[in-house]
Amino acid sequence: MTGDPVTDAGRFAVLISGRGSNMLSLVNAARAGRIPALPAVVIANVAGAQGLHAARDLGVPTAVVEHQASANRREHDGKVLEVLREHDADLVCLAGYMRLLSPVFIAAYPGRILNIHPSLLPAFPGPDAQRQALEHGVKISGCTVHFVDEQLDHGPVVAQAAVPVKDDDDEDLLSARILEAEHRLYAEVLRRYYLGHLVVSGRRVRIQEPADE
Ligand code: GRF
Repeated sequence: MTGDPVTDAGRFAVLISGRGSNMLSLVNAARAGRIPALPAVVIANVAGAQGLHAARDLGVPTAVVEHQASANRREHDGKVLEVLREHDADLVCLAGYMRLLSPVFIAAYPGRILNIHPSLLPAFPGPDAQRQALEHGVKISGCTVHFVDEQLDHGPVVAQAAVPVKDDDDEDLLSARILEAEHRLYAEVLRRYYLGHLVVSGRRVRIQEPADE
């Protein structure tokens, strides 16, 4: 088991529902010094989420807050917020977290919740984005990191990466190609976030280059 030192560095939480490959890529990037912050906690809403094992193996604190145990979204989100506070998280990263957040949650972390989505938003929001892209016949898809607001896959776009759609792609092939781009993009956005390079103005987010400062 490896753990993180107690410091006053930024502390990000990752919320997952399943595999957790984006979560792992963020944790590994932080551990490698590419993100100047520590992974504070990984929270899953599903007890059997595969990513939980991987997080535990890396010595990252984990918590399960099962949504079925709550009467409604607000109650569930209240429990998740408690865990985030216990672990002193200052940024919430959704990574394959299959739940819409309630207004209470969003108000608790204003401008401090990010999500990654496997399409070039606003194209193909919601589930099965890669299948939607194939069915629509687009030649380029990709992934988007965006701030989270109350609507699904809707908040201000921070960064996007384009990925070609090939003639012989099926959903698995395209998803795998997009996932590689996701891992790179999300870690880079967190790096820039913690370096203080993101400048938000309404829906527009500029990534400031050090020379612009
Ligand atoms: C990713 O494609 C992400 O963009 C989407 O759900 C998938 C989660 O994959 N929101 P993983 O759990 O990070 O491996």
